Amino acid sequence: MPKSYLVARRSEIEEGGRRVISCDGTEIGVFQVGGKLVAWHNECPHRSGPICQGRIYKRVTEPIDAEGKVRALAFEEGSCNIVCTWHGYEYDLKTGVNQGSDKLRLRPAKLEEKDGNVYVVV
Ligand code: FES
Repeated sequence: MPKSYLVARRSEIEEGGRRVISCDGTEIGVFQVGGKLVAWHNECPHRSGPICQGRIYKRVTEPIDAEGKVRALAFEEGSCNIVCTWHGYEYDLKTGVNQGSDKLRLRPAKLEEKDGNVYVVV
């Protein structure tokens, strides 16, 4: 039977912030991205690395100039990726989809908000 676990007060999770909690052994990461909360199981679909502890970046792109060459790397505005600490796979933090293959997706966890508190249901 699913059980609720308190994550934090809603006001304590700022934009770009995260909380990783253990729900009786199941780790869940909760993030605020683009003003919304998302929650993912702390298990990378590649080889089960602790994805929720990865660094968070904007997506890196390689713009091609008029001569067909890449002169510099750029960050994609509005994007937000989390990078697995084990082998560097990147996932869109909002959707959970891997940047290289949409077959690799983070596993979502159910979120609930009540009386100003945030809970995950596992
Ligand atoms: S376990 Fe995450 S990239 Fe390999």
